[in-house]
Amino acid sequence: MQDLLDSALARIGAAQTGDELEAVRVEVLGRKGVLAQLSKDMAKLTADERVARGKFINASKQALESAYDEKKSGFDRESLAKRLDSEWLDLTIPASGVAPGSLHPITQIQWEIEDLFRSMGFTVLDGPEVETEFHNFDALNIPGDHPARDMQDTFWLDGGHLLRTHTSPVQVRGMEKLGPPLRMIAPGRVFRNESVDASHEHTFYQLEGMMIDKDVSVGNLIYFMKTLLTAIFKKEVTVRLRPGYFPFVEPGFELDIRCLICGGDGCPVCKQSGWVELLPCGLVNPHVLRKSGIDPSEWNGFAFGLGLTRLVMMRYAIDDIRWLQSGDLRFLRQF
Ligand code: PHE
Repeated sequence: MQDLLDSALARIGAAQTGDELEAVRVEVLGRKGVLAQLSKDMAKLTADERVARGKFINASKQALESAYDEKKSGFDRESLAKRLDSEWLDLTIPASGVAPGSLHPITQIQWEIEDLFRSMGFTVLDGPEVETEFHNFDALNIPGDHPARDMQDTFWLDGGHLLRTHTSPVQVRGMEKLGPPLRMIAPGRVFRNESVDASHEHTFYQLEGMMIDKDVSVGNLIYFMKTLLTAIFKKEVTVRLRPGYFPFVEPGFELDIRCLICGGDGCPVCKQSGWVELLPCGLVNPHVLRKSGIDPSEWNGFAFGLGLTRLVMMRYAIDDIRWLQSGDLRFLRQF
């Protein structure tokens, strides 16, 4: 009997894996196991022998069970340790591959120009993208039958409303709200019903500027425009001033810069001309002042309408306007 018990204990001790141990358990502690064998011929024993055998069986059962439990918990610990090792996660390591976003190049340039003009005493104004016909056209000296309305293909909405075709209506709102003297800029999104190509978008950005004071001259206008261009390009750019017609300025100018993409040789962005219209401007037409309740015999001023989108294209040599609203991350990550 002792041999039987010893060999059973030895087999438990020899199990190498949890599965092996389980197999041994069935054989040793199961219904046909060692304990069953020990109890087999109980009926033939005398009363004393039976007591002795009973004690031995109980002791064997305890010995086997505790041997089994010990072995089993050893395997459990091992497999837990293995799992903890393989599923281990270091929460103190910084996450990898989190790329911070960046501001759109148009926003970047817009903020730069806002800072510049704020430093010269200008206020930054906002205006609605859905405008009234009055603010977008009439108040700017472009009545309904005026041929200049055809210069800007308009998205018309119901009830005399439209998507603003330029930021100039914010001039009107600025004059109405703040009155003279006035120094304001108004960056914003504008819309034209045009077919899209490398240099045209139906949606683009302008930055309007207006200064109204006493005795404002073309000299003042040119000073501010030069300051603006030097700050933006941080280098000498070749410019030319042409007469330009806009009903809300008189005299009106087109300030062009030599195309920075082709250097003036001609490319799709400058329409092969070597020059890019960047900064239409002029002295505010007295009719416009009068329409906004400002006395033109007392006040005058200048205004300009910088093409922000064009400016970004020139600064970063972007040869197709469609990139700017493409949402293409390969493009945007460069800024
Ligand atoms: N609003 C004009 C345009 O979009 C530009 C402009 C603004 C011209 C201010 C002169 C003065 O075409």
